[in-house]
Amino acid sequence: MQKQKIGVIGGGLMGHGIAYLLAAAGHNIGVFEPEANVRASMPARLHAIADLLGDDSALLQRIEAHGQLAAAVKDAAFVFEAAPEKLPLKQRIFAELEGAVAADTILASNSSAIPSTEIGRALTHRERVIGTHFWNPPHLVPLVEVIQNEKTSDAVVHATMELLRDAGKTPVHVRRDVPGFVGNRLQHAMKREAFALVAAGVCDAETVDTVVKEGFGARTAVLGPMEQSDLVGLDLALDIADVLYQHLDSTASAPAILREKVKAGKLGMKTGEGLRKWGPGEADAVRQRLSRFLAEQAKARKKGSA
Ligand SMILES: NC(=O)c1ccc[n+]([C@@H]2O[C@H](COP(=O)([O-])OP(=O)(O)OC[C@H]3O[C@@H](n4cnc5c(N)ncnc54)[C@H](O)[C@@H]3O)[C@@H](O)[C@H]2O)c1
Repeated sequence: MQKQKIGVIGGGLMGHGIAYLLAAAGHNIGVFEPEANVRASMPARLHAIADLLGDDSALLQRIEAHGQLAAAVKDAAFVFEAAPEKLPLKQRIFAELEGAVAADTILASNSSAIPSTEIGRALTHRERVIGTHFWNPPHLVPLVEVIQNEKTSDAVVHATMELLRDAGKTPVHVRRDVPGFVGNRLQHAMKREAFALVAAGVCDAETVDTVVKEGFGARTAVLGPMEQSDLVGLDLALDIADVLYQHLDSTASAPAILREKVKAGKLGMKTGEGLRKWGPGEADAVRQRLSRFLAEQAKARKKGSA
């Protein structure tokens, strides 16, 4: 694929990872990050990714950080926005982008939940606005949901999928701009049930995690739920649905257990207690376990595709 200039808006957690993976694919990246201290920390964070993946850090020369949006997106064919999750802010950024790039530059938002329909509503050229939902960390998790809104052209969907596929990602086409897209709807359907089970005293939080990791989670990376239904047979899937679905939680609001924990300041690893207590070093051990696991998977994929 032709190497292009790509803009990234926001050099935080998601932005620096997106910049890395696109630079690793050979593109030249301009990152707009308004906070000087965040800009200053980018080289160390990018070097840490190169070390983790065993990549030649020379690729980092293709990434330039800027304190001005126009300089970062100059001559860009694509812009990926990874600024804070606030609709008015994202709308302001997209309005500024429209004045700074060509009429056909593709403008993609990495919002987790805000529809790109809303982000791009006031723009003149809405056919080039699209959602690209990367998963954290974006340089390690393969999936990117490419969300077509009611105005996005098919050509823009195609070009975005192509760019991401070429960068080693697994893009999927989400045909409607629904809240939560596909991945977060699935993930949160499971979490709603998990919170309900813990709140009802059926099991504790650690048991939920063991059931997922040691049970169906052990096969999920190679067998999706639709494949699994076809594997066991849809007659069995129907029998189970008939018996079970009436018992599943269907509360249409955030669970009380979550609200109570937050009110009590029990926010999880960052406060030492959430759904369970986190002793010294335990939270870091979880982070390292996750990072090592994802890095090994990413390296194995790279080797497999080489
Ligand atoms: N963190 C995740 O797990 C995750 C996963 C998928 C999608 N997202 C989405 O990605 C986006 C970014 O999330 P994050 O976790 O990287 O946040 P973050 O806070 O780590 O990074 C956001 C960066 O944007 C910068 N910023 C502030 N105002 C700005 C402006 N006007 N223009 C450009 N940059 C500005 C901030 O200084 C910060 O460095 C959000 O929309 C979020 O919902 C996050």
